[in-house]
Amino acid sequence: MINIVLFGAPGCGKGTQAQRLKEHYGIEHVSTGEVIRDEIRRGTQLGRSMEGYISRGQLAPDEIVIGMIASYIADHKEAKGCIFDGFPRTTAQAEAFDEILAQHGLKVDIMVDIHVPEEELVRRILLRGKDSGRADDASEEVIRGRLDVYHAQTAIVSDYYAAQGKYASVNGTGTMDEVFARIADVIDALQ
Ligand code: AP5
Ligand code: MG
Repeated sequence: MINIVLFGAPGCGKGTQAQRLKEHYGIEHVSTGEVIRDEIRRGTQLGRSMEGYISRGQLAPDEIVIGMIASYIADHKEAKGCIFDGFPRTTAQAEAFDEILAQHGLKVDIMVDIHVPEEELVRRILLRGKDSGRADDASEEVIRGRLDVYHAQTAIVSDYYAAQGKYASVNGTGTMDEVFARIADVIDALQ
């Protein structure tokens, strides 16, 4: 099983590229943000408890997100591979992720970090916000807050994978096809 962590700031293209990678390699895709939004849409107790974090652009508590990923992995351990989009987002999540994967005899193969300049990120999210319906896309203030959270709490997770020799950085600007080709080069080099 090949496990890819797709990493980068809000709006860098994780969801867009995950969809393409999923089709190209025939592997699974899980976005913790999507899982949380689905809980909110369904009005579950978990969803209601997550709503405030998402709408303010803050991270959900580690133990809740780790629990979601643990049950996802238990359900998908026979998959050919998986793209983890937006997880892990803290070092505590990265450490727990390694332990959960190890329990199933699995590991992370690579973190692909998609780099896009800040103003382009804001431009992309504001554009999407016109019709995404996402509470955290609605105002520039919340979008910039999400970027601050990324720099303060999440960016450092790249060091965790770099220390294990499992880190690759790609340029996330240009067309979606160009970005896809850069990521595919990294993945193909693993096999
Ligand atoms: P999450 O859903 O993960 O959102 P995010 O990281 O803020 O990122 P986005 O989904 O906004 O962007 P993306 O990188 O997927 O880019 P996309 O492909 O959509 O998380 C949301 C919230 O959930 C968090 O704030 C937190 O509250 C909570 N959460 C989630 N995971 C968590 C965790 N592990 N721990 C704690 N809390 C967690 O692209 C963006 C736009 O740009 C699209 O419109 C797209 O069409 C466009 N675009 C893409 N590529 C290009 C390109 N090359 N050129 C031009 N436009 C492009
Ligand atoms: Mg996304």
